[in-house]
Amino acid sequence: MKLTTKLAKIKLDNPTILASGVLGVTAAALNRASKSGAGAVTTKSIGPQRREGHDNPVVVELDCGLLNAVGLSCPGPEESLRELTKAVKSIDKPVIASFYGKSILEFGHMAEFISKAKPDFIEANISCPNVGEFGLPFGCSAKTAGKITKAVKNSTDIPLIVKLTPNVVDIRAIAIEVEKNGADVICAINTVGPGMKIDVTSGYPILSNKTGGLSGECIKPIAVRCVYEISESVDIPVIGVGGVSSGIDAVEMLMAGAAAVGVGTAVWHHGVDVFQKITGELMDFMSENNYSSLDEIIGRSHG
Ligand SMILES: Cc1cc2nc3c(=O)[nH]c(=O)nc-3n(C[C@H](O)[C@H](O)[C@H](O)COP(=O)(O)O)c2cc1C
Repeated sequence: MKLTTKLAKIKLDNPTILASGVLGVTAAALNRASKSGAGAVTTKSIGPQRREGHDNPVVVELDCGLLNAVGLSCPGPEESLRELTKAVKSIDKPVIASFYGKSILEFGHMAEFISKAKPDFIEANISCPNVGEFGLPFGCSAKTAGKITKAVKNSTDIPLIVKLTPNVVDIRAIAIEVEKNGADVICAINTVGPGMKIDVTSGYPILSNKTGGLSGECIKPIAVRCVYEISESVDIPVIGVGGVSSGIDAVEMLMAGAAAVGVGTAVWHHGVDVFQKITGELMDFMSENNYSSLDEIIGRSHG
């Protein structure tokens, strides 16, 4: 039975990928996920400046997932590059370097900067606010998403993943523009919302930032729909992220059209052992249903 899959020209032993953010940027944390069975690992998004992020609490646990407002905390580009270089040298699986900028120009500069570590992929996180467009995330405008993709492609030869936000009217239009401007892979989705949770004893929102992005089980139907719509609209591979914590969740994402699946909140809840659990359950599903390779599953729901 074959669990291998391909993203652009890069082969993965199995389709599970550590999603950006939940384990940070250190080489040690990424190594743990890789050794525990992830098919590839993604760093937390690396930004152009050192940032403390928001005050605690930055994460709230919900019955169906998490709300987080980490505030793009980052140890700074130099320290992040050191850790990324260590990770690339010590991990024998593909390493994806996630990054962001605060302008289109800065996305280009950051892409060039982190490419020095020679990761297998760079992943542009375009879900962060564009100061120039009154705080609207870059990924909410197809035109801006296309411009970022082009700026990044002109700055590096490393294969590019563009990570999309689901908080848009038509994710297909964004995906088409991103593909047209040279993205090699699309990753979908980032967190949904923002949402809010109020502590009814104090009467105040729990997060110091008041609102945060929603992730985990409760966003899976949105992620599956986004992956379905994107894979119907573009030819490049899609990484499906959002609420995956079991082999059956992974099958659903693959059937929607994903070539690989990102796992974030499930790592937060269950630790890095979740990768082996997901691949084990995926293999059980395949043998019970007479599938011998992922190619027979990927995109099946499109008929
Ligand atoms: C605590 C936390 C931090 C995150 N940080 C990042 C980040 O730095 N960059 C990014 O692109 N996505 C970030 N994400 C989003 C995840 O990578 C993922 O897209 C989202 O949580 C949906 O997947 P999940 O339901 O498996 O968590 C973060 C999510 C969480 C919960």
